[in-house]
Amino acid sequence: MEGKRKVRNGGDAIANTRDACAPRKDALHCYVFLSHLECTRCGLRHEWSRLQNLCASCHKPLFAVVDLSAIGTLDGLKPSSVRGTLATREKSLWRYRELLPLPQGAEPVSLGEGGTPLLRAKRFGNAAGLIQLWIKDESQNPTQSFKARGMSVAVSMAKYLGATKLAVPSAGNAGGALAAYAARAGLEAHIFMPRDTPRANIVECRELGAHVNLIDGLITDCGAEIARRKAAEGWFDMSTLREPYRVEGKKTLGYELAEQLDWQLPDVILYPTGGGTGLIGMWKAFEEMDALGWIGKKRPRMVAVQATGCAPIVRAFENGDSTAAEFPNAHTCASGLRVPKAIGDFLILDILRQSGGGAVAVDDEEMIRVTREVGSSEGLFVSPEGAACFAALKSLYSAGKIGSAERVVIFNTGSGIKYVDCY
Ligand SMILES: Cc1ncc(COP(=O)(O)O)c(C=O)c1O
Ligand SMILES: [Zn+2]
Repeated sequence: MEGKRKVRNGGDAIANTRDACAPRKDALHCYVFLSHLECTRCGLRHEWSRLQNLCASCHKPLFAVVDLSAIGTLDGLKPSSVRGTLATREKSLWRYRELLPLPQGAEPVSLGEGGTPLLRAKRFGNAAGLIQLWIKDESQNPTQSFKARGMSVAVSMAKYLGATKLAVPSAGNAGGALAAYAARAGLEAHIFMPRDTPRANIVECRELGAHVNLIDGLITDCGAEIARRKAAEGWFDMSTLREPYRVEGKKTLGYELAEQLDWQLPDVILYPTGGGTGLIGMWKAFEEMDALGWIGKKRPRMVAVQATGCAPIVRAFENGDSTAAEFPNAHTCASGLRVPKAIGDFLILDILRQSGGGAVAVDDEEMIRVTREVGSSEGLFVSPEGAACFAALKSLYSAGKIGSAERVVIFNTGSGIKYVDCY
């Protein structure tokens, strides 16, 4: 594993030879805490040091497995003590550097993502009957959405492993984020979006130098088009959960939240769920932090919020299913929620059930109405996806499913400014 080594071609990937870092303590410049990739369904182990997408055996998502017992050893610390060193670090998601997959000596592709504020929502909370409502405001990320987190880490890894052309199907915000990080990395971005994606997302991708392809169909059709063409074009497929590292970027939502709440997780988390990568990533972060001794066993009740016009997870949750069938005629102005079929459906449903949480659908008119309530009471122009969570909170509270003294966190995953066509 030492010194120069050939990185194997991962099928979908572009052949490449480069220096690979040796996972040893005396090679500090390239120490890596990432141990291997593991299939989330069948458990099959895969080597991390080549570009790859899904499990070679069952074609389900792969998770990065970090050697948690090694965290801190470079500084002579126990894994549990590393928590105490965080406060002095940079205010970006790269403050959790050793828990992220990129080898230590490699430079991240960064635009200052993460480190977003956790804002107390007193007025909206009080009006809704809650004493302790918080908003994790992800609209303050580069490209104005939480998609920056996943793309910073995934583009860093794709570049490190030798990819030169990156392709992604996107509801809008992931495309903008890939365009930005690919430009930053000096790589090509090929973005496939439904033709009716909000105009701001399309313009943003073009102005960031990406190749934009508009498809008559949904995000699933965009993904299928990439799958058809990627081998011939030499594209590496950056679809969420179809490559292992966007979820690693998203897991920092969970680390940040715990740190901002002084290592006490909230009672309830409301998350606008399309592909579910943030929800899955946060849950992974909770498990890792538990193993590190940073938090206890308590977990929040995780609630997936979707749009009435595209609610595959809500329907599957209510039916007691372990996977979600494709949702027919998917439509909603919350474009990030217009995901009729998610590859990580079984993971999302499992987390909702394990956590004692649930799934709620909100219609578009309600999202739009609540946007102004949030805006006028809290000073945030939230995306429709974020607004859906505020609407869901009200209905869960009225149904007695959330208590007034419970600590609740809502994720505002993007900025309303990109959706002006909806208003
Ligand atoms: C603003 C916004 N919120 C939520 C989502 C859904 O995110 P996830 O795929 O993690 O469920 C998206 C996805 O495009 C989005 O753009
Ligand atoms: Zn598998």
